[in-house]
Amino acid sequence: MRLLVTGGAGFIGSNFVHHAVRDRPDVQITVLDALTYAGDEASLAPVADKITFVQGDITDADLVDRLVAATDVVVHFAAESHNDNSLENPWPFVQTNVIGTYTLLEAVRRHDKRYHHISTDEVYGDLELDDPDRFTPETPYNPSSPYSSTKAASDLLVRAWVRSFGVRATISNCSNNYGPYQHVEKFIPRQITNVIDGVRPKLYGTGENVRDWIHVEDHNSAVWAIIDGGRIGETYLIGADGEMNNKDVIELILELTGQPRDAYDLVSDRPGHDMRYAIDSSKLRTELGWAPRFSGFRDGLAATVAWYQANEAWWRPQKDATEAKYVQLGR
Ligand code: NAD
Ligand code: DAU
Repeated sequence: MRLLVTGGAGFIGSNFVHHAVRDRPDVQITVLDALTYAGDEASLAPVADKITFVQGDITDADLVDRLVAATDVVVHFAAESHNDNSLENPWPFVQTNVIGTYTLLEAVRRHDKRYHHISTDEVYGDLELDDPDRFTPETPYNPSSPYSSTKAASDLLVRAWVRSFGVRATISNCSNNYGPYQHVEKFIPRQITNVIDGVRPKLYGTGENVRDWIHVEDHNSAVWAIIDGGRIGETYLIGADGEMNNKDVIELILELTGQPRDAYDLVSDRPGHDMRYAIDSSKLRTELGWAPRFSGFRDGLAATVAWYQANEAWWRPQKDATEAKYVQLGR
């Protein structure tokens, strides 16, 4: 199988490529990535001699057409992915998440290629803390931020291209990922690397917001289950029953790094901050037989802390510029 992976130099995409090289020797991988601030070729260094890397933009229709023509399956991870950035400057989110997805869909339509679309649980908006329901594939779309609204727009394009043009596509909406190679702008790596630097972790608002954590390896094994067995036109929600509030996550990071559990600062809240995400992944589990391998968040988080401690050379070049942006935001 020839596989085109967009965004393969980012967090989840690079882990996906590592996984594929390790477990799928029959797959030939080409990565298309623009290497924005969030992409890093160093994330692919361990597998560099086993893949083809193309630096380019998913909105470049000629380039995309050539690469799609030469593949069997497209897995589309590339995106502007950080909510805080989308609140400062939404335009790159519209460009990459909406126009980029449109460009890929037109190419897979022309060349009749299988397409898997990586999306997020944030398209469904948020839940109250005491809401008994979780997100399901039937939950109405209700995105809150420029990031999540552009991801929702991209999902709707995919659904329309399936129905109107018969494109052979599937969609997955996953909850919050953690693990190696995640950019230090994101919550968990930001706090781990702050602790390494002797800086107190930063908790937005009161820290009661809940995220449904899943290890990136479990996300990617679910993506493979959908590529292998997913029904065309279907949406699968990916989650590992990992709900935890931000305050508890920070306290666990402090405990795992040998710090007092209260050694963090409360900072101003994110505007429009979603309260809670929670995934019901029963369709994926019953229909495709998928189950997460990482059963405990504590063990997965401890391994992630150890990874950032051992791989400072990977994250150090991004750290100062990232924190300088947060200083401007007052967070
Ligand atoms: P990331 O920001 O770490 O990586 C994004 C990658 O896309 C980078 O390598 C970047 O260089 C590349 N890219 C950005 N714009 C591009 C463009 N115009 N052309 C080509 N490449 C471009 O993101 P991530 O956290 O790995 O997320 C990957 C996907 O998974 C996204 O679609 C995101 O919406 C989705 N997702 C993420 C999470 C999460 O918790 N991180 C959860 C659910 C879904
Ligand atoms: O739910 C899936 C989504 O998860 C993905 O679609 C996004 O691409 C991904 O970035 C993530 O979005 P969040 O906004 O939930 O992730 P983030 O890491 O930015 O923040 C997680 C929570 O932690 C959120 O409630 C905000 C809070 N936070 C974040 C930072 C950076 C803090 O309290 N302090 C911080 O310093």
